[in-house]
Amino acid sequence: MTSKKCSTSTSIGKKQIMGVTGLLLCGFVLTHLLGNLTLFIGSDAFNKYSHALTSNPLIYLAEVGLVILFFSHIVMAIKLTRENKAARPTDYYMRTKSGRGSTFASSTMIYSGVITLIFLIIHINGLKFGTHYDTNIAGVEMRDIYRTTIEYFQAPLHLAIYLIAVITLGIHVSHGFWSAFQSLGLNHPKYMPKLRCASVLFGLLIAIGFSTLAIYCYLQGGH
Ligand code: HEM
Repeated sequence: MTSKKCSTSTSIGKKQIMGVTGLLLCGFVLTHLLGNLTLFIGSDAFNKYSHALTSNPLIYLAEVGLVILFFSHIVMAIKLTRENKAARPTDYYMRTKSGRGSTFASSTMIYSGVITLIFLIIHINGLKFGTHYDTNIAGVEMRDIYRTTIEYFQAPLHLAIYLIAVITLGIHVSHGFWSAFQSLGLNHPKYMPKLRCASVLFGLLIAIGFSTLAIYCYLQGGH
């Protein structure tokens, strides 16, 4: 009895960690999307934006914070999935959270999460650690990350990977966003329908926003 009680309470702690880290990651993804919109303005705007970020000493702190966020989110997801499989072999904990049955997004959270993780490794390897070009804008030496990004998207395979990944991420956050509020106990029945709607809109914004950027980069090669 005591051990069951204990396991239930730690599960609640894990769900809250999932919720907080998930919301902070949503904040990061939205900020990243908004920052990347400078690509549409042109090479100087994108390079200056990236330079402002990467030359700030606080970037190291932000990067460590991001790694901790991703790591805790993933570890909690694995633990919760295992616990719930053990408790209910045919079910996944997200399915019953809404009390309204499962949706495609809610029942595939673990898979869309794994795809996003694989994508992140490919993404950081391809761009952050991708080909390094230098440029000089108004006397300031900086990395030509614009050239790296545009060149990277010239491979149709890269474009295809991005489109699949960002649509998957959109599906993930379309459930994850409102689910986080539930995990944190911020699920007042009055606001839930609006929150679910906002969550789907957020998912659409992420999927459409990043897809548009990826297609734009591809088209810059003159296809
Ligand atoms: C078309 C879509 C995207 C483009 C063009 C893009 C562009 C970039 C670029 C250029 C960098 C390197 C920044 C630098 O070193 O100056 C970067 C880093 C990064 N991106 Fe993206 N990104 C895209 C989508 C995403 C998505 C969907 C995610 C989240 C799942 C993401 C997460 C990250 C992370 C975590 C980093 C490393 C940040 C750091 O270490 O400072 N990106 N991205």
